[in-house]
Amino acid sequence: MAGAFAGDLAGDVLDGMTAEQKYIPSKYFYDGRGSRLFEAICTLPEYYLTRTELSVLRDRSRAIMEPFGAGDLVEMGSGANWKISTLIDAAERPHGDGLRYVPVDVSEPALVAASEGLVRKYRMLTVLGIVGDFTRDLHRVPDGVPKIVMLFGSTVGNFDEAACHRLLRSVADVMRPGDRFLIGIDMIKPVPVLEAAYNDSRGITGEFNRNVLHVINRELHADFDPALFDHVAFYDAEKEQVEMHLRARQKTTVVIRDLDLSVEFERGETIRTEISRKFSRESAEALFSRAGLSADRWFSDPKGWFSLVELASDRR
Ligand code: SAH
Ligand code: AVI
Repeated sequence: MAGAFAGDLAGDVLDGMTAEQKYIPSKYFYDGRGSRLFEAICTLPEYYLTRTELSVLRDRSRAIMEPFGAGDLVEMGSGANWKISTLIDAAERPHGDGLRYVPVDVSEPALVAASEGLVRKYRMLTVLGIVGDFTRDLHRVPDGVPKIVMLFGSTVGNFDEAACHRLLRSVADVMRPGDRFLIGIDMIKPVPVLEAAYNDSRGITGEFNRNVLHVINRELHADFDPALFDHVAFYDAEKEQVEMHLRARQKTTVVIRDLDLSVEFERGETIRTEISRKFSRESAEALFSRAGLSADRWFSDPKGWFSLVELASDRR
């Protein structure tokens, strides 16, 4: 895998494959194919997250941009960056004059393709793409210019409590007085709606899930047979999170040559590939305030399924 994760994959896979509950960090989904599969997920009828967040953005983009003059729009985990245009359009700077877009994403192909599209659309917009891991590379974001930092899509939900805390703290650390942090969070809602979003009828989420095995095969010379692993996704009400797993259909042994490792799977044993946490207003506010961030404005859709929260650093 070119770019930001090349150095981490071996160590992370070694840790994950030797743990009692096997796991693979979800950031490894996103090679070129994984990013395209995620884009396909975003258009699925069951995957309400993208269209709901976009509807909130479209409704509230003027209110969000109204107090912002010129400066940087920093988007963490920008992917295909379908959402940023709503804000650029609302800034009433038709060609993007005075704005610099700073996407930070681990997926170089997604970042390059999306940035090219934006530069074509807004001819005065400057783009500074950062191929990196936003959990540790935020220091590469330019300082000294007013900015809005964004983390859309409920990507924050893919981090457990401790990792979420570290991530939010690291954003608070790069915020200057007056800067804002706009974060999208997926709210707790009826379980059938949540589970359908991660078990679509066309099986695209399953392909996305199994893509991580293709990544490991290619990058670490492993011999996972993706067809031997079923996609499983369910909501754990106690932990308030959807979990995605890959479940072995039969007893099998996988060899990961670059790690000099043989991994045994019992029939039915799973690899956890992602958590996707869902929030209440209370749980989100507790998370924000522990990280030194306070919610200035909440924007939600009429059903309250998805929220965009505008945060300021308490150190302002
Ligand atoms: N923001 C988009 C895409 C969300 S998908 C949306 O709202 O639809 C998650 C994106 O975050 C992917 O593009 C993936 O490549 C990126 N990503 C995941 N973990 C990352 C990390 N640790 N550092 C940088 N980018 C990451
Ligand atoms: C990027 N992230 C917020 C998505 C989510 O919903 O957790 C990734 C995803 N996994 C399965 N479908 C989409």
